[in-house]
Amino acid sequence: MTYQGLIHRYGRYLELPSHTKNISLLEGNTPLIPMPRLSKEFGCELSVKFEGLNPSGSFKDRGMTAAVSEAVGRGVQTVICASTGNTAASAAAYASRAGLRAIVLIPEGKVAAGKLAGAITYGAEVIQVQGSFDDALTLVVEITQKTPIVLVNSINPFRIEGQKTAAFEICDDLGCAPDWLCLPVGNAGNITSYWAGFKQYQKGLPRVLGVQAAGAAPLVLGHPVDKPETIATAIRIGKPARGEQALEAAQQSNGKIIAVTDAEILSAQRILASEGVWVEPASAAGLAGLMAESGSRSAKHEARDKKVVVVCTGHGMKDPSIITESFQPPKIIPANYEALIGLIEK
Ligand code: F0G
Repeated sequence: MTYQGLIHRYGRYLELPSHTKNISLLEGNTPLIPMPRLSKEFGCELSVKFEGLNPSGSFKDRGMTAAVSEAVGRGVQTVICASTGNTAASAAAYASRAGLRAIVLIPEGKVAAGKLAGAITYGAEVIQVQGSFDDALTLVVEITQKTPIVLVNSINPFRIEGQKTAAFEICDDLGCAPDWLCLPVGNAGNITSYWAGFKQYQKGLPRVLGVQAAGAAPLVLGHPVDKPETIATAIRIGKPARGEQALEAAQQSNGKIIAVTDAEILSAQRILASEGVWVEPASAAGLAGLMAESGSRSAKHEARDKKVVVVCTGHGMKDPSIITESFQPPKIIPANYEALIGLIEK
């Protein structure tokens, strides 16, 4: 049978009310891409769960199909979220599909161009807040307590239900859970969802390596960060809504939550791209964490000879600013053959 989206495929494992009306863009079913060269270098069996291939370009679509389907099924007319960009684009996409009004609050000037463009194109009302993601989240929580507008951040339990499906897919592809799961941690909804998903699916449990950016690492520091800062703007979050659950997932799985520098994130992004997978900076944090844990790319480490899944949460096209930050700009030549051959034979 042709693929009909996540609620159709995994609905029986998801706690969704009976009024739920399936709104799907055929999200999920993303590839688990083997990485033979990286596997050899790390001495483990490494694959990438490439969530950038979801309809709006990030893993958020898994949770959004569930949250919007539930909301529309009970007659909701407007949804709202705070976002570092991907939730905004995803909420906008699913709201437009369902015929709902979407309002998204983003931190002023700190959202990657591809995400902002998506949210605007799908037709959301985009509002920039003079503050951080955390300030924007406080605002949307307040407004949804005082009005009938529905919150579609991952505080919404149906977001977590939908996002569990990534763990199910990995187990279905591998035949069991991997030994290690490495992923970025921002507001901590995704790590919470994966851990709930693996526990529920009963195909084994991975050790979970959650990775924050050093400038936005409240779960590593043990306290909120007032002014989070990182090039990985998707995870520029100082007060994660599901922080407790993230720490629990790390502890229960015998894993850990660590921080990596922006330089390590950009280096991991280049390494993934060198084997054909282009992800946005935050999405490279999982690999950056694995590399930091390994000490060096070839050293003996805990993941050695193990099945390791690195979750790459969003597509590289989301954040084109990286051209100026991390890569050399392309050379310019006059439009003639001599100039071209001179350059490529150099
Ligand atoms: N990776 C990407 C690409 C993200 O956009 C996010 C979160 C994360 C990782 C972290 O996931 O929050 O569940 O721990 N982005 C949110 C947003 C905050 O607004 O798009 P998390």
